[in-house]
Amino acid sequence: MADIFLARAQTDLGVSRLVVVKQILPHLAASSEFSDLLITEAKLAARLDHANIVQVHDLGRIDGFLFIAMQYVEGFDLAELLRRCTRTKTALPVQYALLIVIETLRGLDYAHRKTTEDGFALGIVHRDVSPSNILISFEGEVKLCDFGIAHANDAVTNSAYSEDVIKGKAGYMSPEQAEGQPLDARADVFAIGIVLWELLAGKRLYKASPEAGSLLEQAKAARIPELPSRSLPLEEQLFAVVKKALAPNRDLRYPNARALLAELERYVADSKLIASPIRFGEWLLDRFGNELIHQRRERERAAETLEEEATEPGGPDEVEVSVSGVSSKLLPPPEDVAGGPPGPSSMASSSRVPMASLVTESGQRMRGAVWFVVAGLLLLALLLYILTRS
Ligand SMILES: Nc1ncnc2c1ncn2[C@@H]1O[C@H](COP(=O)(O)OP(=O)(O)O)[C@@H](O)[C@H]1O
Ligand SMILES: [Mg+2]
Repeated sequence: MADIFLARAQTDLGVSRLVVVKQILPHLAASSEFSDLLITEAKLAARLDHANIVQVHDLGRIDGFLFIAMQYVEGFDLAELLRRCTRTKTALPVQYALLIVIETLRGLDYAHRKTTEDGFALGIVHRDVSPSNILISFEGEVKLCDFGIAHANDAVTNSAYSEDVIKGKAGYMSPEQAEGQPLDARADVFAIGIVLWELLAGKRLYKASPEAGSLLEQAKAARIPELPSRSLPLEEQLFAVVKKALAPNRDLRYPNARALLAELERYVADSKLIASPIRFGEWLLDRFGNELIHQRRERERAAETLEEEATEPGGPDEVEVSVSGVSSKLLPPPEDVAGGPPGPSSMASSSRVPMASLVTESGQRMRGAVWFVVAGLLLLALLLYILTRS
């Protein structure tokens, strides 16, 4: 649905911060149905101000490109963290798994309860709670991103989900969402219930296969196997919570994120599986800190290359960089790719994250001035040369 860029926002006085720019693919931005809904949803998301939600800074349109600028969370998304855990044979301690789900639920609860200034419920539903939308920073913070974006996407793709969209979404869909019914907060409860189930089971809940059927068919049927025992303290209490979050009939489910959050917090207190974000951050740095340093170096090198090339005639080419250990392309700023082919769908590309450093207007003005002075000096030298020759 979009290309994701890492960008540097810079003010005239030199204040600089990294932000993420999500640039909606041109064919979607061109659809007024999609754009209208996305703008409505993104405006709602921009009102959300909570530690467990990625802050939306800006929503805009430049040269026909629709974009959302948001806070950059340096770390991994949960899908990437789990891949790394598998690759390095590192078990994610259960107290951190519970922390991730509890923190995500805090963000969801805040969003579900959000009202207008006059106190009217906004009825916000995330619709795409899944590991790739749960971001984890090296400070141990957990932040949910892409609020409401799925809603706009559903509007244009509902009738014909593509394989890629299904791969990204159906694995975490409630049965009512898979059936295309109107949704409320309970759909998000089910989705985070699947995330919790998978973290406890150490495997995916639904896997597409000829016997089991497609992910969408499995989501519609919502057959949830019993969790395998891990000999956790008060395990039955925890498993009962997961079962209720995953009740196929939404009337039997927790009515909202707050009710599930309260039960999980009770379990964590009773079982003493308490974890702090600080400890979690230390654990992440201890296991994956080297990769963070590597990632930062690569990013700085790539940004420098891009900024150097931006000053040269012809502009920058693509530069290979590695984000979260995955090779990606560093693309020129958006205006330079306007004529190019559309990028990959984000649903299919959580591993391919193009990054770009957007050159600010003041930076461009500065470079223009430098070129002007250099050209002037050259002209002067040429004039002097001609004069001395004659
Ligand atoms: N604000 C952000 N800060 C850091 N990384 C982000 C941010 N937003 C998205 N990402 C990364 O980019 C990936 C792709 O994002 P997205 O386009 O939403 O695709 P997906 O459908 O996989 O969630 C995310 O899974 C995450 O790893
Ligand atoms: Mg996403």
